Amino acid sequence: MPMLGFGTFMNTGADCERTVAEAIHTGYRLIDTAEAYGNEEQVGRGIKAGGVCRDALFLVTKVNFKSYSRTRETVENSLRLLGTDYLDLVLLHWPFADYYTAWRELEKLHKEGYIRAIGVSNFEPDRLIDLIAYNEVKPAVNQIETHLYCQRQTEHVWEEKYGVSHMAYAPLGQGHANEMFAEPIVQEIAAKYSKTAAQVLLRRTIQNNTTVIPKSVHSERIAENFNVFDFELTADEMKRLAALDKNLPMIGTPEKPELVEFSLTW
Ligand SMILES: NC(=O)c1ccc[n+]([C@@H]2O[C@H](COP(=O)([O-])OP(=O)(O)OC[C@H]3O[C@@H](n4cnc5c(N)ncnc54)[C@H](OP(=O)(O)O)[C@@H]3O)[C@@H](O)[C@H]2O)c1
Repeated sequence: MPMLGFGTFMNTGADCERTVAEAIHTGYRLIDTAEAYGNEEQVGRGIKAGGVCRDALFLVTKVNFKSYSRTRETVENSLRLLGTDYLDLVLLHWPFADYYTAWRELEKLHKEGYIRAIGVSNFEPDRLIDLIAYNEVKPAVNQIETHLYCQRQTEHVWEEKYGVSHMAYAPLGQGHANEMFAEPIVQEIAAKYSKTAAQVLLRRTIQNNTTVIPKSVHSERIAENFNVFDFELTADEMKRLAALDKNLPMIGTPEKPELVEFSLTW
């Protein structure tokens, strides 16, 4: 799995098709979408326009919790919309509703060869350990909100212990990044390497052995976010950035019932 991918949340229509193709031309090989984003068809068109062979890509999609009772049908629909006969990674989007039934259907689809790897999203360590304990296939990935103010340091330790790869969604704070970008330490490090604040934040996460999937609809940012492999943060810089963690999720965590209530409206 590549360490950097292209996110597509809130990216629909012609913009989606254009930016997915642009991302592929830039060098992105991992594309992240979801049933709930309603853009799999446009992502599929963008992939076609990207012009690289299917084997070079790593396609990720997610089954929404509202579809857990029809997981097979949902995955078949994703395959059709994305224009592919296999998916690299399919995630259960949330630990809501009957996710055990959905997981067992994903296990079957994995064994049948339609999905190369299966994983989860928004699973806290307790849910993850439970799922691993009572099922045959272990989740390959847990995709969770992870950025400077919500670094998931504890979750990462548990994921490493169980051999589950950490994938960071909202790695730039989902557009509320101004405060993070303006942090004096981030600014100082960015100036030292002649990089932008966004590049420093993405690099920090990658150096923590975590895959990042930033989203942008702007060509210059799509290129900027990909250009993070020609510098390396020192151990001291990583430590100073780690100290800025506020353990503050914006989107969803079972520890914050009001955020769970909001996520259930999706
Ligand atoms: N599993 C889940 O529940 C879940 C939840 C949320 C997201 N995701 C996935 O994770 C991906 C990334 O998360 P996200 O889209 O929520 O948030 P994000 O990537 O952290 O932030 C995207 C926002 O940052 C802006 N941006 C992008 N690059 C920038 C740069 N270099 N400088 C300044 N601003 C920049 C974008 O604006 P412009 O587009 O205008 O450039 C957009 O408003 C999603 O697209 C989706 O694939 C998964």
